[in-house]
Amino acid sequence: MKKPTYTEFSDPRFVALYDNLNALGADSDFFCEKVKELEAQTIIDLGCGTGLLTTKLAEQGYEMIGIEPSDAMLEVARHKPYGEKVKWIIGSSEQMKGLQVDMILMTSHVAQFFLENDEWNTMLKNSHDALKPGGYIVFDARNPLTKPWEKWTRETSSKKLETPNGEVEMWYQLLEVKENRVVYEIHYFFTKTNEELISVNELIYRSQEEITNYLLDAGFIVEKIYGDWDGSLATETSPEMIFIARKI
Ligand SMILES: C[S@@+](CC[C@H](N)C(=O)[O-])C[C@H]1O[C@@H](n2cnc3c(N)ncnc32)[C@H](O)[C@@H]1O
Repeated sequence: MKKPTYTEFSDPRFVALYDNLNALGADSDFFCEKVKELEAQTIIDLGCGTGLLTTKLAEQGYEMIGIEPSDAMLEVARHKPYGEKVKWIIGSSEQMKGLQVDMILMTSHVAQFFLENDEWNTMLKNSHDALKPGGYIVFDARNPLTKPWEKWTRETSSKKLETPNGEVEMWYQLLEVKENRVVYEIHYFFTKTNEELISVNELIYRSQEEITNYLLDAGFIVEKIYGDWDGSLATETSPEMIFIARKI
């Protein structure tokens, strides 16, 4: 199995294009709506990346803490409008010690980067400790039953985008599926210079039942599992599993 490099999050040339290729969309509207509906005021955005959603929520007046292990991603986040209103912290869930918030968010499938069950459980424990009584953990994961990786070839996943560095073609290439782990490449091809950047990533696809049981064991109740950004509930064929779980 190829070793993941995650250069998507560490190589400044990749990071510079992250926002072009992952612009705010229906998912961020959904998360903003949930924050409002669940009346959170203080929020940790764990795995906040370039702070796309973190700074959007800061602009709306929420008290935001962005935690992110990649220096390069956090560097972009810090310089965004409203970035000065966010408390940025380098690291992962261990950095939550001593914090007390109303909500913990993990968006754009951050949950699937916790490959080992030990680190996943540690994250859930640290999240539980950092939440006020009745606080919420809210996150998305792709539904493994839909096997999205089957479409990860250049032919089926390629998209072309205009960026400050000219046209970039981006696509996913599946490398290997082993039980619930998927190893794949993200390619960025710069049309003007013929330069190609490749990031090797690995994701874990836990089932809805597995995630629910982990949450229950960590002291949460699962209030809802949505299946898509239109607010429909999760079914076997929904693309997403969006968990809304409350600390008990
Ligand atoms: C697909 S990006 C999502 C970024 C951001 N949440 C968004 O919605 O744009 C995944 C992020 O998870 C971060 N990440 C990976 N492993 C992590 C971990 N163990 N703890 C926290 N964040 C992690 C990566 O560095 C990356 O910034």
